[in-house]
Amino acid sequence: MIFAANLKTNHTRTSTAKYVQNLSNHILGNNIASKVMVFPTLMAIDNYSQNDNITIGVQNAHPAIKGSITGEVGLEALNEFDIKSIIIGHSERRALGESDEFLKEKYDFYVKEGFEIIYCIGESLEVREKGEKEVFKFLENQISYIDLSYDKLIIAYEPIWAIGTGVSATQKDIEGVANKLKVSLGDTPLLYGGSVNEKNITDATDVENINGVLVGSASLNEDTFLQIIQNGEK
Ligand code: PGA
Repeated sequence: MIFAANLKTNHTRTSTAKYVQNLSNHILGNNIASKVMVFPTLMAIDNYSQNDNITIGVQNAHPAIKGSITGEVGLEALNEFDIKSIIIGHSERRALGESDEFLKEKYDFYVKEGFEIIYCIGESLEVREKGEKEVFKFLENQISYIDLSYDKLIIAYEPIWAIGTGVSATQKDIEGVANKLKVSLGDTPLLYGGSVNEKNITDATDVENINGVLVGSASLNEDTFLQIIQNGEK
């Protein structure tokens, strides 16, 4: 199983360092076997002292080594901290104007650099209300932009209406999408994300074709995130 914490624009460098250290110690102390990933805010990326049991990645970066791209971060800056994992296509970035075409550009760039990529897809409430067939058509279109045969790809299914709303998708919703997506994804791991917490975690992890979760709000506290991992490990 994969448990990924998307800290979004939360935590400082100081508090992230404490978070990573505490989480790492807990993972060690509790014999957690799953893969644990933490995506801090860019300002907090650092060489954290940890027990090598957490993968640190970035929530975003530009498809460039470096250059005149005001406000962005390039590969050279990531290399300084040995960052090799990135989230691409999160709905909060799509909402800022990142198109499928631009996300493909990012994806291709970081594939070439050998990054592990969590590529996020997910439908709006408007699409969901049109029924499961439309949802799946929408998701198939989103994944059609990227090379699904890349061996360091992880897909995260995150319905927009479930992100940060406190309304998680039901197990039936998750299962319906996961079973269909897996036909296209094959061995590519599939995560669920959207209002996952320590109480509802098994709704996602009990689904056969779900290989982990991407957690936002409920990951901000490392004790809660650890509880999610413990409750969801299988
Ligand atoms: P949430 O966020 O857990 O706060 O819904 C999930 C995400 O955006 O990855």
